[in-house]
Amino acid sequence: MRTRRVQAILSAVVAQALFVKAAPAVSDPCAIFAGQTFVAPSQALACLKSFPFNETLRQNVLTVISRVFDFYTFEDFYLNSPPPFQESTTNIRADIARINSTKYETDYDFNRAVYNFTTQMNDGHTRWLPSCYQTFQNLLPAPVVTLEDENGVQNVFVAPDSVEFVSLLGDEFTGFFDQIGFDWKRLAGARVLEIDGMDAYAYADLIASTETGNYLDHGVRVNSVFSSYRISDTDFSQRFGDIAGPAFPDRDSLTMTLIPVGSTQAETVTVPYLADYLGANFTDQASFWEVNCAANNETNGVDLKTQLPGSGSALRKRDIGRTGRKLARAAIVDKSNSNAVGLPQQFIPTLSPVNGSTGVIKSFILPSNKTGVMFVGSFEGDFNQFQTDTDAAIKQFKASGVTRLLVDLTNNGGGFVCLGQFLHQYLVGTTNLGNAGNPGFQSTNRGNTLAKKIVASDIALGLNDNLSFYTPDNWAFLNNTEMPLTHNYINPSVPFTVNGVTDQDSQRFFDTCDLEFVVEPPEESPFDLNNVAIVSNGDCASTCAMFSTLMFERHQTKVAVFGGKPGEQLQYKGMAGNQVLEWTDIDNEIKTANLKDDPLAPPDLLVNADFRHNWRTAWSFFNEQLPIAYVSELPQFRFPYTNATYNNPEALWTFAESKLFS
Ligand SMILES: *[C@@H]1O[C@H](CO)[C@@H](O)[C@H](O)[C@H]1NC(C)=O
Ligand SMILES: *[C@@H]1O[C@H](CO)[C@@H](O)[C@H](O)[C@H]1NC(C)=O
Ligand SMILES: *[C@@H]1O[C@H](CO)[C@@H](O)[C@H](O)[C@H]1NC(C)=O
Ligand SMILES: *[C@@H]1O[C@H](CO)[C@@H](O)[C@H](O)[C@H]1NC(C)=O
Ligand SMILES: *[C@@H]1O[C@H](CO)[C@@H](O)[C@H](O)[C@H]1NC(C)=O
Ligand SMILES: *[C@@H]1O[C@H](CO)[C@@H](O)[C@H](O)[C@H]1NC(C)=O
Ligand SMILES: *[C@@H]1O[C@H](CO)[C@@H](O)[C@H](O)[C@H]1NC(C)=O
Ligand SMILES: *[C@@H]1O[C@H](CO)[C@@H](O)[C@H](O)[C@H]1NC(C)=O
Ligand SMILES: *[C@@H]1O[C@H](CO)[C@@H](O)[C@H](O)[C@H]1NC(C)=O
Ligand SMILES: *[C@@H]1O[C@H](CO)[C@@H](O)[C@H](O)[C@H]1NC(C)=O
Repeated sequence: MRTRRVQAILSAVVAQALFVKAAPAVSDPCAIFAGQTFVAPSQALACLKSFPFNETLRQNVLTVISRVFDFYTFEDFYLNSPPPFQESTTNIRADIARINSTKYETDYDFNRAVYNFTTQMNDGHTRWLPSCYQTFQNLLPAPVVTLEDENGVQNVFVAPDSVEFVSLLGDEFTGFFDQIGFDWKRLAGARVLEIDGMDAYAYADLIASTETGNYLDHGVRVNSVFSSYRISDTDFSQRFGDIAGPAFPDRDSLTMTLIPVGSTQAETVTVPYLADYLGANFTDQASFWEVNCAANNETNGVDLKTQLPGSGSALRKRDIGRTGRKLARAAIVDKSNSNAVGLPQQFIPTLSPVNGSTGVIKSFILPSNKTGVMFVGSFEGDFNQFQTDTDAAIKQFKASGVTRLLVDLTNNGGGFVCLGQFLHQYLVGTTNLGNAGNPGFQSTNRGNTLAKKIVASDIALGLNDNLSFYTPDNWAFLNNTEMPLTHNYINPSVPFTVNGVTDQDSQRFFDTCDLEFVVEPPEESPFDLNNVAIVSNGDCASTCAMFSTLMFERHQTKVAVFGGKPGEQLQYKGMAGNQVLEWTDIDNEIKTANLKDDPLAPPDLLVNADFRHNWRTAWSFFNEQLPIAYVSELPQFRFPYTNATYNNPEALWTFAESKLFS
């Protein structure tokens, strides 16, 4: 949770006055709000749009993106995305060509076009994230949720807890609305009929289609537009949702037709947004560019062979496992974690946490004493602590006579690939894994020409998994023995055809996660697997999607998903890429393999940004010719949120206990 930086906030009126009086500031649209945490969206946008379009930067960015896409495992699927994921269909190369030939007024417009294109691919592992323009979150003091009422009817509401929730942003935020005389508190709990002139659910669909991104499944994205509980870092938190908390300050207000609590009359209210500044400190337009937009010493990769382990080294930026290897990650980026506020106090579980609840996992025993809950907020944080926390919680559950386990994966954005496999292995027991004893999925990366050169060069240089994700010792054969350093698993490559296009993949392999585990998983499952169930809102990404898919595909674990738009389907997993490489990761690989001068290699980025991509495919256990990401898997249970459960994890768990275990 961040500490609020600045006390004073300029109301729109004061800003206007300043604009008139302080003549020199007029020419500098960023200096006007330097030092403020909250700023009028129009002012924020004026600063972002003040940097002129630059053709050199466009060519640089598009060249980097286009050459990184060569490594992207799902490229050919996009030509005609299989149902029910058709919404993401696009021709990636044609999109790049379109953006290359479109005229843009400003650098923002160009970057926004690239951002929109990659975001609408709905793969949270594959996105253009320019630091320059990831500097604000627009916040509306009326976050919305979808709830079922006592009569079994679902509607969109302003979150009933919005007074308590929004107040957590502090006086600077709420003071702005006081100053302009806007009474946002009376909107709490109002039934929302229309947003921006559309049916409220249709508006939710629109934002899910155009702005949310991250998850292939449309239904999961709809849940992302609503406000929901989560664990942010290691604390209970509430997420604004993408309607009330979009990533750009490009709306000044949102019009809602609603019926306030205690009224029977519909009224139309224009609710102002206020932009929250998330970037680095600056004083004027030039310094804004310098601290947020210009490439810096950490923008691009390095030749890791030249880096000594230790402080300041690029190697330190990566999490290292106990054998010294770099740990694979699969997670989405949710910028709203950087300004997260808590869950209002009354919704934090009153049960005493069991052992192992100080990190990303919060565990409790429900009042029945029969069911243990592990709320697994993410697979991030401390790699070893996740394992010891799991072990501590389960041991305490067992010692307390608990016989049933509920795993809550709500808003779990993923994390370390091997922690998903660890939790699977721990809950199932090593003797029940099958799969030659491997806890994961078959995996491949893309066998393009440059990837083949990297593996060949790594082998010739004698590199190992301490420096590279491409070296063979990262992987195991399908008999679950680690590959020797000299085994070239990408050449010969294996053709794979989808949508009429044949591309090359590496040979199939497994992860080698068990080499990194510091906690020995039990031989037998701690609970009868019929007594293990998963709940979530479907916003379960990357490693989370792989964990829940392992439980569902291999062990038919019961999964219940809450929320969504009534009548619209909702998958239990949002996005199941196998491993993400950030721009610096793939650039590290290329430089460390001595291949930066290769004509296929992307140049260094000239701006501070990330172009991340999904670098590995996880293949479904149900059908090993289909990536997990493209297998439609609906949960066995679907429940609407109610006023009692939408933001109250303990109430939701108790409800789920009554429905899933009997
Ligand atoms: C465009 O960006 C490049 C690279 O940062 C810079 O060298 C050049 O001066 C910029 N061009 C203009 C017209 O600002
Ligand atoms: C953009 O188009 C120009 C003109 O056709 C071409 O020279 C350039 O290579 C293209 N850039 C990229 C990144 O494709
Ligand atoms: C990006 O998407 C937003 C939301 O749909 C839209 O308002 C904006 O015009 C788009 N901008 C560009 C440059 O494509
Ligand atoms: C939600 O529940 C709270 C507390 O029980 C109550 O005060 C409020 O009126 C309810 N709101 C709605 C929209 O049902
Ligand atoms: C940013 O500015 C605030 C005061 O305006 C200060 O407290 C904070 O330390 C600064 N942060 C950095 C990284 O300089
Ligand atoms: C980059 O520069 C910053 C500030 O000068 C420094 O703190 C950081 O350690 C440097 N990072 C690397 C990888 O050299
Ligand atoms: C990898 O790094 C670890 C720790 O830094 C070191 O102990 C180990 O010897 C290295 N492994 C190899 C094969 O170089
Ligand atoms: C659960 O265990 C606690 C502590 O041992 C006990 O006080 C409580 O009565 C038990 N509840 C039930 C429903 O058995
Ligand atoms: C909880 O952890 C403490 C401290 O490590 C330990 O003494 C205690 O036995 C644990 N309790 C259970 C029930 O496992
Ligand atoms: C595992 O498979 C590889 C590749 O087929 C083979 O070389 C190796 O001998 C096998 N190892 C065991 C223990 O069967």
